[in-house]
Amino acid sequence: MCAPRSSLLPAVIIIICEVLTGQHTCAISQKTSCQVRGSRADCSHLSLTAVPPDLPRNLTSLDMSHNKLPGISPASLAAYPGLLHLDVSYNSITKLDGALCQTLPLLQTLNMEHNQVLFFRKEDVSHCTNLIQLIMASNRLRLQGEPFSALQSLRFLDVSRNKLQSAKLGSQPQLPSLVNLNLGNNDFTALKKDDFSFLNHSSFLRVLNLSSASLKTLERGCFEPISSLRTLIMDGSKMGTLVISQLCSELSETDIDTLSLQKMNMVTLGNMTLSGLQKTNLTFLDLSHNGMGKIEKGSFQWLSRLQTLNLEDNNIKHLTKDTFQGLRSLKKLQLTKALAKHPTSSTPIIEDFSFQPLGALESLILRGSAVGEITEHTFTGLTSLKELDVSWSTSTSFKIITIKTFNSLAGSPLQKLNLTGADITQINPGGFSVFKNLTTLLLDFNFIKQTLTGKEFDGLGQVREIHLSNNLQKINLSSTSFVNVPNLRVLTLGKSLVVKALELDSSPFSPLCNLTNLDLSNNNIANIKENMLEGLVNLKVLKLQHNNLARLWKSANLGGPVLFLKWAQNLTTLVMDSNGFDEIPLLALRKLHNLRELSLGNNLLNSLQDSVFDDLTSLQSLFLQKNMITTVSPVVFRTPMSNLSLLVMDKNPFDCTCESILWFVTWLNNTNTTSVPDLKEQYKCNTPHAYFNHSIMDFDGLSCKDMTPFQALYILSSTAVIMLIVTALMVRFHGWRIQFYWNILINRTLGLSDATVEEGREYEYDAYVIHAEEDSSWVERRMVPLENERCRFCLEDRDSIPGRSQLESIIDNIRLSRKILFVVTEALLRDPWVRRFKAYQALHQVIEANRDSVILVFLQDVHDYKISRTLFLRKGMLRPCCILDWPVHRERVPAFHQKLLIALGMTNRLQE
Ligand SMILES: *[C@@H]1O[C@H](CO)[C@@H](O)[C@H](O)[C@H]1NC(C)=O
Ligand SMILES: *[C@@H]1O[C@H](CO)[C@@H](O)[C@H](O)[C@H]1NC(C)=O
Ligand SMILES: *[C@@H]1O[C@H](CO)[C@@H](O)[C@H](O)[C@H]1NC(C)=O
Ligand SMILES: *[C@@H]1O[C@H](CO)[C@@H](O)[C@H](O)[C@H]1NC(C)=O
Ligand SMILES: *[C@@H]1O[C@H](CO)[C@@H](O)[C@H](O)[C@H]1NC(C)=O
Ligand SMILES: *[C@@H]1O[C@H](CO)[C@@H](O)[C@H](O)[C@H]1NC(C)=O
Ligand SMILES: *[C@@H]1O[C@H](CO)[C@@H](O)[C@H](O)[C@H]1NC(C)=O
Ligand SMILES: *[C@@H]1O[C@H](CO)[C@@H](O)[C@H](O)[C@H]1NC(C)=O
Repeated sequence: MCAPRSSLLPAVIIIICEVLTGQHTCAISQKTSCQVRGSRADCSHLSLTAVPPDLPRNLTSLDMSHNKLPGISPASLAAYPGLLHLDVSYNSITKLDGALCQTLPLLQTLNMEHNQVLFFRKEDVSHCTNLIQLIMASNRLRLQGEPFSALQSLRFLDVSRNKLQSAKLGSQPQLPSLVNLNLGNNDFTALKKDDFSFLNHSSFLRVLNLSSASLKTLERGCFEPISSLRTLIMDGSKMGTLVISQLCSELSETDIDTLSLQKMNMVTLGNMTLSGLQKTNLTFLDLSHNGMGKIEKGSFQWLSRLQTLNLEDNNIKHLTKDTFQGLRSLKKLQLTKALAKHPTSSTPIIEDFSFQPLGALESLILRGSAVGEITEHTFTGLTSLKELDVSWSTSTSFKIITIKTFNSLAGSPLQKLNLTGADITQINPGGFSVFKNLTTLLLDFNFIKQTLTGKEFDGLGQVREIHLSNNLQKINLSSTSFVNVPNLRVLTLGKSLVVKALELDSSPFSPLCNLTNLDLSNNNIANIKENMLEGLVNLKVLKLQHNNLARLWKSANLGGPVLFLKWAQNLTTLVMDSNGFDEIPLLALRKLHNLRELSLGNNLLNSLQDSVFDDLTSLQSLFLQKNMITTVSPVVFRTPMSNLSLLVMDKNPFDCTCESILWFVTWLNNTNTTSVPDLKEQYKCNTPHAYFNHSIMDFDGLSCKDMTPFQALYILSSTAVIMLIVTALMVRFHGWRIQFYWNILINRTLGLSDATVEEGREYEYDAYVIHAEEDSSWVERRMVPLENERCRFCLEDRDSIPGRSQLESIIDNIRLSRKILFVVTEALLRDPWVRRFKAYQALHQVIEANRDSVILVFLQDVHDYKISRTLFLRKGMLRPCCILDWPVHRERVPAFHQKLLIALGMTNRLQE
C-alpha cells in the first residue's frame, strides 16, 4: 500500500493469521507495507526513509518506529493533520523540526526514543502546546535555553538515558501539568537544592523516576520544589547506605507514598537508614533484589503507616522479634525467596515471636524461603492473618503435620493456607483443627501417603477448597474421608490416589452435597462404583482424564455398562480424555442438559450410537481429538454441535465418502459461530485411497449432490430393465395365460362371437370336424365335451346322415356346418379320405360359398409346405385366430378352449 522499500535490510517476517468465514488460514508472509487498522497505521520495521504519503487522511495514530528516518519533515506529515500519536522511535533523527507541531496541531504523544537528537531548543517544540506525552529517552540531548517551557499540557516527560549532567531541565518554573518525570539512567551524581526548581509550579507531579542514578550528594532541600511527590523509583541506583538515609531524610518533607529501592545492593539495612521516612505516610516499600543479608533491629520502626513491604529475593539469615518492630499497619509482607539458611548456622531463621509486631498483617508470603523449624510461637501475634503461603518453603516441621504444627496460628482468622510443595508426607488427626475460618487448603505437590480417615480435616467446617493433587499416588480413601468438610466446593485428587481408592461400596464423596468441582484425573483408576457421585447434586465440573475407565462403558461389561453419571445431571464440564474408551453406552450421557464442555480426546472411540449425545443441548466445547472416528453423521452430532463455539476433533481417521463426511464438511463450511482450530492442517482423510492424507475440507461435496439425479436415473433405468425382463419371462412362460384372461375379458364385454345371429341360423352345426382316424380319440376327449345347446360339432362317425352314401353325407354335412375344422396331424395328411375328398370338398365349399370358414387345430407341428400340398391351404391364407395349437401344457387347455370358441365365433364373411 505504501512504502518504497530498501532491499538492503531483510524484511521482517511476520505471521498473519486471518479468519475467513470461520476458518483459520495461516500463512507466513513478509510485511512489505504499512498495516492500517481503522485510523491507526503501523509502518514499523520497514526500513523506510520517509513517511509514506498514501495512508488514509483521517489517520490518528502512526507508528514509524524501527525505520531509517533521518528526520521528520513536517511536509511529509501534512497529509495527516489529525494525528494524535506519532511514534518515530528507533530511527536516525538528529533534529526535531519546529514546524512539526504546526503541521500536527492536535499531536498528543510524540515518541522520539532512541534517535540521535543532540541539540534541543525551545523553538523545536514551541508549538506543541497540546502535547501530553513526550519521550526523548536514549538520545544525546544537550538542552539549550528552556526547551520545555512551551509544553503547557505535558504530563509525561521521559528524558532517561541521555547522559544528562544535571537533573535541572530549566531555570524557570515550567511544565505546570507534569505528572510523571523520568530522569533515570543519566550521568548526574548530585541533586542540588535548585535542580527541581523548574518544577516549582508543577503541583501535579506524582512520579519521579531516578533509577540507575549514581547519586553521591544530595543537597538539603533538593525535593522541596516537588513536595507533592508520591512515588519515587530509585531501582538500580548506586548509592551508599549513607546517601540512602540522606534520601529518606530529604523525602520527609514530601507526600511520598511509594518508594522503590530494588536492586540497590543494600546488603545490610541499618536501624537508622529509613528513619527519615518517619514523618511520611509511606505505605509501600520495595526492598526486593538487594542481596540483603541482615536487617538490624528496629530498622522498620519508623514506618508505622507502611502497608506493604516487599523483601522478595534477598538473603536474610535471621528474623527476630525486633526485625519488624513498629510495622503496626503492615497488611502484606512479601518474603518470597527472602530467607536463606546459613549452611553452618544453628540459629533459627525465624525466631519465636518474630511476627508479633505485625498485628494488622493479613498476608504473609514465605514462598520458596527457608523457614526452618516451626515452634509453637513462630507465628504468634498474627491476629489478623488471612493468608499464609509457605509453598515450596523448606522446613522440617511440615514433614508430619501434627496438632502442634500450626498451634501458633490458633488466634488467626486464617482463610487461605498454601502448603503446596511443602514436603508433607503425613497429616495427623487434627493437624489443621486450629483453622476454624479456613476456606482454602492447598496441599498439591507433596508426598502424602496415608489413608484419609476424615480426622485429618477435623475442625475445617468452613473449608471450601482442598487441593490434594500431585502427591505420590499413595493416598487411599475411606467412606469417612470427607465427613468433616461438608462445605467443600472444590476437591482435587489428581495424580494422588492409589488405584483402588474408589472401590468403596459407600462413596467417600457422599457427605459433599455442596461439591461443585471434583478432580480425579491421572490416577489410573480402573474401577469406580456406580453410586460414586450419588448425592452430589451440585457437581458442575468432573475431571476423570488419564484413568483406565474403558471397561465401565463396555456393553460387554459384566452387569452392563456402569452409568455413574446419572447422579450428576447438573454437570457443566466433563473431562474424560485418555481413558481407552471405545464405546459410549446409549444412556451414559443422558439428561446432561447443562453440559457445556465435553472432553473425550485421546480415546479409541469409533462408531458412536445414534442419539448418544442427544441430551447435550447446551454444549459449547467439544473435544474428540485423537480418536478413531471415521464418520460424523447428523444423527449423532447434529444436537451437540448446534450451539458449539469450540470444536476440537483433529487427528481422527476420517472416511471421506458422501455417507460419512458430507454432512460434517458442509457443517464446517457453513458454521461461523464455531471455532475449529487447525481445521486445514489436522483434519485429514484416512479413506478412501483417493483422499488419503488430504484435508477433509478438500472433500468435494458437489460430487455427492450430482449423485441425486444420477441415482434417480439409475433407479429408473434399472426398474425399466427389470420390468422388461419380468414381462419377457411372463410372456414366455405365461403369455397364454395373459392372453386367456385377455380373451375372457374381451368376450365378457363384447360377447363371444362377432358373427351375426342370422349367420348362425343357416347352419345345423357350428363346425364340421375333419380328423384322421387315429385322432378320433382326441376328438372324443377334447372336442365333444365342449358341445352344448349353443355349440354343436359335426363328427362324421357320429353324425353321418343315415341311409346316404358316405360321400353324400360328407358333402351335406359340410354344407350344414358353419365352420370347417381340421385337426392337423401328420396322420391327417396321410389319410386318403381327407387328401382326396374331404379337403377337396371343404375347399370347394369355401370357394363356392365364398366363405372364410376354415379353422386349423394343430396337434403336431406340421410344416406349412405339407399342408399346402395336401390340403391346398396355407396358414397365411387364414386369419391368425383361426390357427390354433393344441397346448403341450395341461394348464393351458382352458385357454385353448377359449380360443377355439372365439375362432368358431368369427364371422365367415371374407375380410376385405
Ligand atoms: C478513515 O477513512 C477510511 C477510508 O478512507 C474509513 O474506512 C475509516 O472508517 C475512517 N476512520 C475513521 C475513524 O473515520
Ligand atoms: C541502633 O543500633 C545501635 C547499635 O547497633 C544502638 O546503639 C542504637 O540505639 C540503635 N538506635 C535505634 C534508634 O534503635
Ligand atoms: C499523612 O496522612 C494523614 C492522614 O491521612 C494526614 O493528615 C497527614 O498530613 C499526612 N502526612 C503527610 C506527611 O503526608
Ligand atoms: C500456592 O502456591 C503455589 C506455588 O507457589 C502458587 O503457584 C499458587 O498460585 C498459590 N496458590 C494460591 C491460591 O495462592
Ligand atoms: C472466624 O470464624 C469465627 C467463628 O467461627 C467468626 O466469629 C469470625 O468472625 C471469623 N473471622 C473472620 C475474619 O472471618
Ligand atoms: C451447602 O451450601 C448451602 C448454601 O451455601 C448451605 O446453606 C448448606 O449448609 C451447605 N451444606 C452443607 C452440608 O454444608
Ligand atoms: C441440579 O441443581 C439444583 C440446584 O442447583 C438441584 O436442586 C437439583 O436437584 C440438581 N439436579 C440434579 C438432577 O441433581
Ligand atoms: C465449501 O465451500 C466452498 C466455497 O464456499 C465450496 O467450494 C465447497 O464446495 C464447499 N464444500 C462443501 C462440502 O460444501
